[in-house]
Amino acid sequence: MIVSTKGLFKHAYGKYAVGAYNINNAEQVMGLFKGNIDSKAPFIIQLSKGARSYTDKRLLEAMIRAADQIFPDAVFAVHLDHGDEASCMDCIASGFYSSVMIDASSEPFEKNIEITKRVVEAAHKKNISVEAELGTLGGVEEHVSVDEKNAHLTDPKEAVEFIKKSGCDSLACAIGTSHGAYKFAGSQGIHFEIISEIQKLVPEFPLVMHGSSSVPQDEVQRINAAGGKLKGAKGVDEAQITKAGKMGVTKINIDTDGRLVWCRVHREHFLSKPEDFDLRPAGKVFMAEYAKYIVHKNQVLGSAGQLDDVRNSLKK
Ligand code: G3H
Ligand code: 13P
Ligand code: ZN
Repeated sequence: MIVSTKGLFKHAYGKYAVGAYNINNAEQVMGLFKGNIDSKAPFIIQLSKGARSYTDKRLLEAMIRAADQIFPDAVFAVHLDHGDEASCMDCIASGFYSSVMIDASSEPFEKNIEITKRVVEAAHKKNISVEAELGTLGGVEEHVSVDEKNAHLTDPKEAVEFIKKSGCDSLACAIGTSHGAYKFAGSQGIHFEIISEIQKLVPEFPLVMHGSSSVPQDEVQRINAAGGKLKGAKGVDEAQITKAGKMGVTKINIDTDGRLVWCRVHREHFLSKPEDFDLRPAGKVFMAEYAKYIVHKNQVLGSAGQLDDVRNSLKK
């Protein structure tokens, strides 16, 4: 059942975080739904601009609709990840999305507000909620590339002004994480003081943490043992993810970890069976392994076991 992102955040706020998982293909969709059903967790399925153009956005959306039928107990929201104004408007018009993210964080403060406000006005007319971003994450985003050194953290006072002026429903804050498999290169951990400061200034306002993959070290070692070259890959400590979920971070974005599972499964499969060329055996293993990863991650987030309670809260 596709539900509102707002409803999921309301239930989660201050207790746990909802996992927001990126998908690109059918195997990821199947693994994701199975993992969330196995762990009885609500979740957010998110599509980046790159994912929407990898095969075709219509194919992805159709896969999600089909998964909704295959897994009738699933409770989830559909979200556009790192949209620009045009892709946000496209998703709003489609009527399929529960929420969109407008990422104008590379623009100056006032321009970011201006763009976000336009998206909010269009989205709210259709009951769609809007995530915005303030501050700059390190690493590489789809249309924003920033050197780790220049990454700047979100200023809590600016965040409050931004929320009030833009009308956004949730805010992605730069608190020290970055996208991809190489995080915290020689720098700090998560800046929890920024989260608590914003929470104090705007209580009950949902915050979002991007770049939250934990880049499991056993995964990295297995990839490297099977011919990969991921040197110095590092992610977010899982205890910090649990902590963020109890502090008003209601959405935790995870993409890289899923790619690592995919990479490990396929490298190991074809290394151990060099005579094999069929895509299905490895694909089957990937779906099961990805589902296992999701079960574990939902336990870390605290979303595991919340499914029935969320469903009831959404009926009220
Ligand atoms: O934040 C970026 C997400 O991991 C999406 O990645 O743009 O390569 O699909 P992508
Ligand atoms: P990771 O690269 O840490 O998985 O972050 C994903 C993300 O923030 C998607 O918006
Ligand atoms: Zn992101």
